[in-house]
Amino acid sequence: MANILVTGGLGYIGSHTVVELIQHNHTVIIIDNLSNSELKVLSGIQEITGVLPQFEQIDICDKKAVLQCFSSHAPIDAVIHFAAYKAVGESVQKPLEYYANNVYGLLVLLEAMRETNTSNLVFSSSCTVYGQPLELPVTEQAPLQKATSPYGNTKQMCEDIIQDYIASGVSFKASLLRYFNPIGAHPSACIGELPKGVPNNLVPFITQTAAGIRNELQVFGNDYNTPDGSAIRDYIYVVDLAKAHVAAMNRLLNTDSAHMCDICNLGTGTGVSVLEMITAFEQATGVRVPYRISPRRAGDIEQVWASTDYANTLLHWKAQTPLADVMRSAWKWEKKIRGIK
Ligand code: NAD
Ligand code: UD1
Repeated sequence: MANILVTGGLGYIGSHTVVELIQHNHTVIIIDNLSNSELKVLSGIQEITGVLPQFEQIDICDKKAVLQCFSSHAPIDAVIHFAAYKAVGESVQKPLEYYANNVYGLLVLLEAMRETNTSNLVFSSSCTVYGQPLELPVTEQAPLQKATSPYGNTKQMCEDIIQDYIASGVSFKASLLRYFNPIGAHPSACIGELPKGVPNNLVPFITQTAAGIRNELQVFGNDYNTPDGSAIRDYIYVVDLAKAHVAAMNRLLNTDSAHMCDICNLGTGTGVSVLEMITAFEQATGVRVPYRISPRRAGDIEQVWASTDYANTLLHWKAQTPLADVMRSAWKWEKKIRGIK
């Protein structure tokens, strides 16, 4: 079994992936600076798996500390790199912080990997690199569009950096995973998303409204060119997403070639509108979500969903969890963190 370094492993997607890695008998070393997570996530992981993963509170931009971590846990077979800032709106207000953390953080990691001859990397990218695609479902071959935020720009830059590094002829393999909209929580409710302040994303806003923390949900726009007028996204269960990382990593470890770069969409292949999401939550939980229609949110695209053919073939992976189960997991998690029976 492999020795896997997971950066940002206490975050939302990272923690679910760590659980899957441990359940597949891999040894996990987590690096996180706790800028958007809490130490108690470690106990959540232990509660699910029975294993307390090794943890180092390190900033990914601190090269000395990162190198020290690689050496003390050598040999590292693969790195899964989640650590980054992820709030689109905040990135517009704090572009320098986003470029520094997301782009410089990757450069430090790649240098540390080069210096320690570590050659397998799974990288968290985003469907934001496609902007509003001309054709749906969007395939990995679709042209990328100019990013509409510094956050989106950092994902495009990071993809370029990794591809340029591989093109230089080094012995290095990478998997660039373009996530669509991750939602839900582990069915145990031991881990889940911990949004700080007022959530920007749809599902945490739905669950907080259902819990009575918010008065009502605003549906941003009902005048899109979609069947019910609200915007459409491809919402993927975080546990299904986590499983795809194990598949992507195994592919890197089991492929003999010295250089390779997979680029893969991770979605369900189905688009769901905002109004359909509200109905799905209400039907799955029996809890009502008060909402009103508001103007479109600046920067939002109309509709996007993934072509999943490539992921299905390459990774032998498919998102399988029904939306109703995902909504129930999100609600169970919200109730747990709010102490609601
Ligand atoms: P998250 O904020 O929950 O997790 C990121 C983790 O990285 C946090 O625990 C944070 O403390 C840590 N971190 C941030 N900067 C760090 C640094 N300099 N050094 C060490 N640790 C650091 O985010 P998430 O939702 O789990 O996202 C994980 C990755 O997936 C990110 O790269 C994000 O951009 C990408 N992504 C997320 C989504 C989404 O909707 N959640 C969609 C597409 C892509
Ligand atoms: C955005 C980013 C994506 C990022 C993700 C996670 C873009 C184009 N996409 O996705 O890169 O990875 O956030 O941070 O910037 N909505 C409401 N009311 C709400 C909240 C959301 O109607 O209170 C609607 C939005 O208008 C959108 C849908 O719900 O149509 C999903 O929104 P959200 O969860 O924020 O994700 P994205 O904007 O798709």
